[in-house]
Amino acid sequence: MTQPPRAEIDQIAEASIAALRAPSLFNSQPWRWRLVGHHGELWADRSRQLTGLDPAGHLLLLSCGAALHHATVAMHAAGYVADVVRLPDPDRPDLVARLRQGAACEPDDRLYRAIYRRRTDRRPFDDERPGPAALDELRAAAGRHGVHLHVVREDQVTAFAAAVARAGAIEHADPRFRDDVLAWTTRSRPDRDGVSARSVVPSTPRTVAPRNFAVARPAALEPGPGTDQGTVYVVLATDADEPHDWVAAGEALSDVWLTLTARGLAASPISEVIEVDAVRTALRRVLGGVGSPAIAMRVGVPVAEAEPVPAAMRRSGTDVVGLPGQL
Ligand SMILES: Cc1cc2nc3c(=O)[nH]c(=O)nc-3n(C[C@H](O)[C@H](O)[C@H](O)COP(=O)(O)O)c2cc1C
Repeated sequence: MTQPPRAEIDQIAEASIAALRAPSLFNSQPWRWRLVGHHGELWADRSRQLTGLDPAGHLLLLSCGAALHHATVAMHAAGYVADVVRLPDPDRPDLVARLRQGAACEPDDRLYRAIYRRRTDRRPFDDERPGPAALDELRAAAGRHGVHLHVVREDQVTAFAAAVARAGAIEHADPRFRDDVLAWTTRSRPDRDGVSARSVVPSTPRTVAPRNFAVARPAALEPGPGTDQGTVYVVLATDADEPHDWVAAGEALSDVWLTLTARGLAASPISEVIEVDAVRTALRRVLGGVGSPAIAMRVGVPVAEAEPVPAAMRRSGTDVVGLPGQL
């Protein structure tokens, strides 16, 4: 006997649960889902905006875009194309997307399985460099969302590293930035969000210095034997700088990251260069005509036998997904 089709709203609810695992700025998880009739509404949650690091809410929208893409991947794994309308109501700019079940398609769970394996891996990677075929695949993943993936060329790496260092120094000296870092690295356990010291590595000599999260608590993740020599730096860039572009950049970030995870590669984002306006402008110049940088990432081959990075906490479905009037 064939199974009756699942209620559409159950598919959306399940997709919104998978989307809990999406990456977000400082694990702020700045979104909510509302299940309305046959569709799900994804809302930006401004109460979770990092107002020092992200005053315009660009990285908040980017994080919501990553959650949206995670949800579409879950629907694809269940055998449906996701029917998405992005930013459907100009009078309600925090309504990021309306999502419903589209046409039936061949189920594909390759990226879905990667959702549960993906981690922000801040450890130094191996000497071996991700190959050209992998980088082409990542470029195509970003391109599906109209986003450019620029691989920082070897002759641009020094300027890129200088931009990251300059952004880090500016942020460290500014109480507005420092307060956000402090707040989101010292969240209490019941909050189930923020960046835990267990996922942060102590600083070791590297071409591009990792972000300094250890403002209040010492970094507690073993960096391992990697040298980071094979690490590739990529920048996701959009043609314009409008809310639609930031959402698309988030979808692209998710697609690129799940794609590289499925290939056995690892990554961590670098957003300081986006958060500090002057550095973002300088980066645009360094890269020359790639568009508006939305986020950078380091991508590499994890060292052999590296232990998985501990999974970062997530809020529960009952806190994030609800019927109208509940959330
Ligand atoms: C918009 C955005 C910006 C981020 N910026 C950084 C960053 O600058 N440095 C970093 O190490 N991780 C960065 N991250 C990774 C988050 O800290 C990470 O996704 C979050 O803590 C959850 O951990 P997980 O990705 O392992 O699930 C960023 C993620 C997003 C979506």
